[in-house]
Amino acid sequence: MTATRRFGATDLILKQGDITREAVDVIVNAANSGLLGGGGVDGAIHHAGGPQILAECRQIVARQGGCPTGEAVITGAGRLGARHVVHTVGPVWQGGGAGEPDLLASAYRNSLALAAAHGARTIAFPAISAGIYGYPLDRAATIALGVARDFALQEQDFTEIRFVLFSAESFAAFAAALRALPGEAAR
Ligand code: APR
Repeated sequence: MTATRRFGATDLILKQGDITREAVDVIVNAANSGLLGGGGVDGAIHHAGGPQILAECRQIVARQGGCPTGEAVITGAGRLGARHVVHTVGPVWQGGGAGEPDLLASAYRNSLALAAAHGARTIAFPAISAGIYGYPLDRAATIALGVARDFALQEQDFTEIRFVLFSAESFAAFAAALRALPGEAAR
């Protein structure tokens, strides 16, 4: 299952599947501030990518003490079919009044900027915060795609920004949000 819309020079692509199988320049991980692994997509990325990714995360922790919510760090991709993994930390959903929308948008924006700074032309995201962290799927999808659209219209870095959704339910939520995005002219 796929869905696509083009903004500027960038295709926004939705797929249902396992992000660890994507062949892209950068795979984005929905990590936690400690950067030392976890469950969900984080566990899947470390499992498929092998120990090199965790070793690099440990070096980052030693250097800067982790990754604050809304920010991003970058490592190699170990055995994954990517050049880098960007590890970003989305907010834990607390009802929406604790700055969650801005923090989730920052996680996507900082991941795109960091990947672009490393020369990436293609990038794949999971549905950050929409699993263990409890962010409502439809709201998370609207924020994710809104940031991707704005980045695509403002920058020319990416040919493809992919969202790889694990379940049919998350694919459907992202597909509805993609259809609802304003076109190129409207802001
Ligand atoms: N490929 C793509 N998406 C996946 C995969 C996978 N292999 N595995 C899980 N997902 C999906 C989940 O179904 C969910 O929709 O990724 C989305 C994000 O869910 P989580 O991985 O739970 O991430 P998040 O909600 O941001 O919670 C982060 O979970 O794994 C820990 O260390 C991580 O503590 C952090 C927290």
